[in-house]
Amino acid sequence: MSTLVIVGAQWGDEAKGKIVDVLGSQAKWVVRYSGGNNAGHTVIIGDKTYKFQLLPAGILHQNAISILAGGMAICPKGLIEELDRTLAQADGIGELMISPAAHVVFPYHRKLDELEEGARGDHSIGTTRRGIGPMYTDKVQRIGIRMGDFVQPDIFREKLHRVLDFKNRLMTLLGGEEISFDDLFDEYQAYATRLKPYVRDTESLLARAVKSGDRILFEGAQGTFLDLDHGTYPYVTSSHPTAGGATLGTGVGPRAIQNVLGVCKSYTTRVGEGPFPTELTNEIGDQIRRQGNEFGTVTGRPRRCGWLDLVALRHACQINSMSGLIITRLDVLSGIDELQVCTAYQNRDTMPYSREDWAEVVPSLESLSGWYEDIQGAKVWEDLPSAVQNYVRFIESFTETPAAILSIGPDRSQTIILRPDLIWGS
Ligand code: IMP
Repeated sequence: MSTLVIVGAQWGDEAKGKIVDVLGSQAKWVVRYSGGNNAGHTVIIGDKTYKFQLLPAGILHQNAISILAGGMAICPKGLIEELDRTLAQADGIGELMISPAAHVVFPYHRKLDELEEGARGDHSIGTTRRGIGPMYTDKVQRIGIRMGDFVQPDIFREKLHRVLDFKNRLMTLLGGEEISFDDLFDEYQAYATRLKPYVRDTESLLARAVKSGDRILFEGAQGTFLDLDHGTYPYVTSSHPTAGGATLGTGVGPRAIQNVLGVCKSYTTRVGEGPFPTELTNEIGDQIRRQGNEFGTVTGRPRRCGWLDLVALRHACQINSMSGLIITRLDVLSGIDELQVCTAYQNRDTMPYSREDWAEVVPSLESLSGWYEDIQGAKVWEDLPSAVQNYVRFIESFTETPAAILSIGPDRSQTIILRPDLIWGS
């Protein structure tokens, strides 16, 4: 078996895009298993910067087959725009397939996301307003339209008719305007025609690939603490970014997953509302935001920045059954004299459960030496200053999880692989 899940170990934006790009070059299949265009993955290759929201970052590898799996929320308009942009930018891309079980995001989902956020007032979640929550609500309510239905005009027409009537009533109730069936159907029917050739029975293809021992990379979006079940509910997304989502979202069973690598930044960031015990609202937080260019890929919002929360990270290692960690953006911490990491939540020995519990968390911080060297040129572990090595060893020891890969800059080449055996097996 050669299957690997790449999962976000924090609140998303851990620089998974670069990692999936690097490891995707070694995979035959790259499968995005959850979320939609609420995610934003940046990949920098030479002088080109690619921004992906729906396409797996592995799409740039012509020998890999990229799959948008059944657990995803697909905005057809966004996907076509992204596909055209990538085709114009890249010298070539790999084959793309879409699962018929993936759900389609429509304009009424985006509109409802906006209206519902407005109606929440002080309790808004800070969503990306891409319609993700309302689309997954439809999925659970069993009124969603899936890619397999979408690409069959008669079925699409009939399902859209039924659901739009209901959505229009809902939108007017919340102060919005109705959407015309004819306009929506005509526009989206054209997208469906364009996407139809990509819709394939990806579950069977993946089952065969697992059996043949092909290298399959499962690409997570968002992060562990945005997971609907395991995150800081209700400040979460509506899908399952955790490693379990890779099996739910693709139809590949748990025993077929060999390795799980969790991507974490060397500090913590979060966008949107919700608890963040190690948040820094001072000059050091600003410095990290500046040095790390911590602004959202999707919304451009400044990300909240803070110290590395090892208590949360250790929990993420546990619930994702992680084989190893990929620690990114170590270069961003250069120039901070004293680093701090959170090693306990005061007066608690369990993870907070509710919004109220999280609000009361007081982090216990430990200090570690910082470094001033520019580490972007390091090629191997031995090139790293001892303060960086100590920082990494501290993370490994606290989380009881080995560091498999370090990322020390945005380029593909700025990657140090410490444990190749934890990637595709030995
Ligand atoms: P939604 O996924 O748009 O419904 O947003 C729910 C929460 O998840 C908000 O706090 C968003 O900021 C957050 N979120 C969604 N996608 C991402 C992501 O890719 N990175 C970081 N945060 C995200």
